[in-house]
Parts: sequence; C-alpha cells; structure tokens
Amino acid sequence: MLRRILPAQGVALEIASGTGQHAAWFAAGLPGWQWQPSDAQADAFGSIAAWCAQAGVANVREPVVLDVLAPRWPASGAAFAAPFDAIYCANMLHISPWATCAALMQGAARHLAPQGALVTYGPYLERDVPTSPGNRAFDASLRQRNPAWGLRSLEDVTHQATLAGLRLSERFEMPANNLLLVFRPSQRFTARVGQDGKPFTAWGHQTLLASAEQAGVNWPSSCRNGTCRTCIGRLVQGQVRYEIPWPGLSIEEKAEDGVLPCVAFPTSDVVLTGPGL
Ligand SMILES: C[S@@+](CC[C@H](N)C(=O)[O-])C[C@H]1O[C@@H](n2cnc3c(N)ncnc32)[C@H](O)[C@@H]1O
Ligand code: FES
Repeated sequence: MLRRILPAQGVALEIASGTGQHAAWFAAGLPGWQWQPSDAQADAFGSIAAWCAQAGVANVREPVVLDVLAPRWPASGAAFAAPFDAIYCANMLHISPWATCAALMQGAARHLAPQGALVTYGPYLERDVPTSPGNRAFDASLRQRNPAWGLRSLEDVTHQATLAGLRLSERFEMPANNLLLVFRPSQRFTARVGQDGKPFTAWGHQTLLASAEQAGVNWPSSCRNGTCRTCIGRLVQGQVRYEIPWPGLSIEEKAEDGVLPCVAFPTSDVVLTGPGL
C-alpha cells in the first residue's frame, strides 16, 4: 500500500516503531527509501536491529528516542538534518493518552516536507460506519488496561490534524477493520482584518471563518453554510475560492468584492474589512 502512496524514493521517519517489524518490512519493500525508526522507549532498539538484520536491509538508520509529547524531536542528540518526505505511525494513537494525537499532528506538521505525507495505521471509530464487534471488544479491553487508552474517533483525529495545518487526503480500509490514513500539509496563508490588522494564519483547506476563529478573531456568523449572509465582509486584497456554487451574494455585492468567510477558502494572503459591506 505504501508503494501506491509514496514516490519511489525519499526519507521516512517512523514514530512508535516498537519491535521494528514494520521498519524491516517497509525498508525491504521500499528500497529507494531511507527509514528512520524511533520510539519513546529505547528498550526495543535491539529488536529493531535484529529484525533489520534478519531482513538484510541496509536502508534503516539507527533508531532515535522520540516521544511525540516532548517539545523536541528527537529527544536528544543531533537535530534531524532535513524535513521528511513521509512520517509513518502505526498503532500508537489508541495505546497512548489522547494528548499524543495533537502532539503527533503538530510534530508532523513541523517535520514534514511541503509535499510530504503523514501516514497513520490502526483501528478508529467512525461516525457513519458501524464499529465491528472485534474493534468494540478491543476498545473495551484497552480501556480496562488503561483508562487513558482506547480507539479514537476519526473525526477527532482529523480535527487535531486540521488544527496543525494537515488535511486528511486519503482513507484506505485495511484488513481486520484497520484504516490507513494519509494526511498532507495544507497551504498556509496570512490573513488580516483591515490593512493594519494583526496577521493570523489562514489555512488553504479550511474556511476563512474557521481560521479566524482559531486565531481568536471575533467575526459574526450564523448559518455557516453561505446562505444567511451574517458573516458578509469585503475582500480588499487577495483571492478566495468557494466549494459551493456561488454563495448567497447578489451581483452588486459580488461587484463590491463581497466575501462570505464561512464558505470562502483562501488561495493567497488576504485582507478583509468588515463585518458588513
Ligand atoms: C502497540 S505499539 C506499536 C508498535 C508498532 N508501531 C506496531 O504497529 O507494531 C505502541 C508503541 O507506541 C510507543 N509510544 C507510546 N507513547 C508514545 C509517545 N508518546 N511517543 C512515541 N511513541 C510512543 C510505545 O513505546 C510502543 O512502542
Ligand atoms: S454565516 Fe451565514 S452566510 Fe456566513
């Protein structure tokens, strides 16, 4: 599956490598890639070496201690020389406290190349997909072992990715009710309310209203789907795109650079005025 998603060559950081079985398997299957294993615990580094020796792979680097919750990746030693083309993390989010999800997303956003991909593998709960009996039992057993563990909701995980500036770009169903998810860095723009307004980050994959709210900008809204016009403002600089057919703006408002931030996605740095036209 990774061969379908990733280019022919690159450098991958594996988070939570554990025994190293995946590192050896992927390094053998992806000969054009350099694989950097890591884990919060160094106990299993011997096992990683053993798996790689057995597989006869030479494209696996020395494992490093990396706790996603720590401010620095890796925890100590030389900094990573360059951003990674891929970051891979299997079976960690449900066997660690929920805080590791935000930390994984924020860290991946810091360490991924602009064209890179964060790939996660594991079981998830999904709002519109019935949870299999196997996953329900697994969730219960995890919570019994540690109340901070448990299967995560795909929506919650995706929300943490969005906050970090990553967007869910692919979802693959895998054996035993697991999912392989691919998150990619979003385009990052600067927005201001008024030419002299305080700049804030406007992500290309979410609406201007969502980015404004995340930055603490107080902008009125109601329907949030482009029909009520409560959020109307003026786009005095930059461009936006809409994912719905032309939203609730009249031809006159459009001619006056009217913008509906609840449904407008930035495609460049932008300056708004308003609310109101
Ligand atoms: C169930 S094992 C998964 C190992 C391997 N990825 C696999 O799929 O077989 C969970 C791994 O997550 C690691 N882990 C837990 N919390 C972590 C954290 N905060 N940062 C990095 N790794 C962590 C554990 O040390 C353990 O090796
Ligand atoms: S909040 Fe209703 S159109 Fe934007």
